[in-house]
This record gives sequence, structure tokens and C-alpha cells, in this order.
Amino acid sequence: MPEPTLILRDVAIFKGWLDHDMQSAMVTELRDVVAEAPLFQPVTPSGRAMTVRMTSAGRYGWISDRGGYRYAPSHPAGMAWPPIPESVLAIWRALVSDVRMPDCCLINHYTAGARMGLHQDRDEADFSWPVLSVSLGDDALFRIGNTTRGGKTDSIWLNSGDVVVMGGAARLVYHGVDRIRPGSSTLLRGGGRINLTCRVVD
Ligand code: SIN
Ligand code: MN
Repeated sequence: MPEPTLILRDVAIFKGWLDHDMQSAMVTELRDVVAEAPLFQPVTPSGRAMTVRMTSAGRYGWISDRGGYRYAPSHPAGMAWPPIPESVLAIWRALVSDVRMPDCCLINHYTAGARMGLHQDRDEADFSWPVLSVSLGDDALFRIGNTTRGGKTDSIWLNSGDVVVMGGAARLVYHGVDRIRPGSSTLLRGGGRINLTCRVVD
């Protein structure tokens, strides 16, 4: 596997993994996904609206509502989740595995003011598979903590084209996005940031 640019709290960070043309090609594929399975604004289990909008591609999508956080075989509006774009699978093959592909690619869309509180990714059955995350569009201040709640954290700005892998000792690390830097990228028509999170689910 290629060497990451840096490792922060066991999280592997590949700065600029995607060049501008690769990012643009990926955005084109993601537009097709969103056209089939529109972005929706989830609520947390306690009923608070999340500040990001989301949709998914793959065998499963990740959803949140009054019923809890979980993987669902179809979009809340009823349609099937579209297939994970080939450009996304190519990153998984290069950085994670060419044996098993991810079951879910969660697509989070951040606009100015959107954030993601510190959390663990723990709705999957098998934590031996890493989580792979791709940043597109505006910069995001990504915070990494510990495998238990609380304690010291470190933050790093993620730029468009950066890829993050949380596996091994980092698989259950708390992480989140404090804020984005609106207008820092022109990649997305209409601005904002997209984060893709690929995971093996079952
Ligand atoms: C997430 O962990 O759900 C999103 C991380 C990110 O937006 O970079
Ligand atoms: Mn996460």
C-alpha cells in the first residue's frame, strides 16, 4: 500500500491523492448518483436536524432518523441506492483492498455553517475493515480524538482531493468536522464540500 503523507493519531492522511481532473470526473459521477438518490436532511435519533445533507451509493446507505443510526437497503424515499462510482472504488482498491469492495459510500454535503460532531463509525459488523474518506470542494477542519470519548484532540485542514483512511488502531477513533471554509474551492458548482465515506458494512 502507498505511504500516507502523514499519520495523525493513527489516522492515515493522503494529501492531494486526487488531482484536479480526477476530482472533476468524480463530481460528474456523483451528480448522477444524487440525481437518482437525492440528498436529504436527516434528523438525529433525538430529533435534531443534522446540518449536513446526505445520500449514499452501494448495497447499503447510512441513514439517521428517530429510529436511530443504521444502514438501510434503500433511500428513505424508496428508491434503490445507485452503484458506487468506479472512480471511488479505484481509490479503495489502491489504498484498502482489491479483494473486498465497500458496501456503502455515504455522501455528505456541507454548506457554510454545517459541521459534524465528534463521533465513532461503529454501525458496521466488522471493524477489521478500514473506513476510507474522500474530501471534495471547500476545506474542512477535521478533528481527531481518541478511541474513547474525551481527552486531547488534534485538528487538520482537509483540502479537496485529500483521502483519509481510518483503520487498525484508528478504526474506532472519535472524529468530526468543526467547520468548513466557504468559498475556498471552486470544484463544486454552488460551492460547499462533499465528503465520501466508504465502509464495509456486513
Ligand atoms: C464523517 O465522519 O461522517 C464525515 C467526515 C468528514 O466529513 O470529513
Ligand atoms: Mn464518521
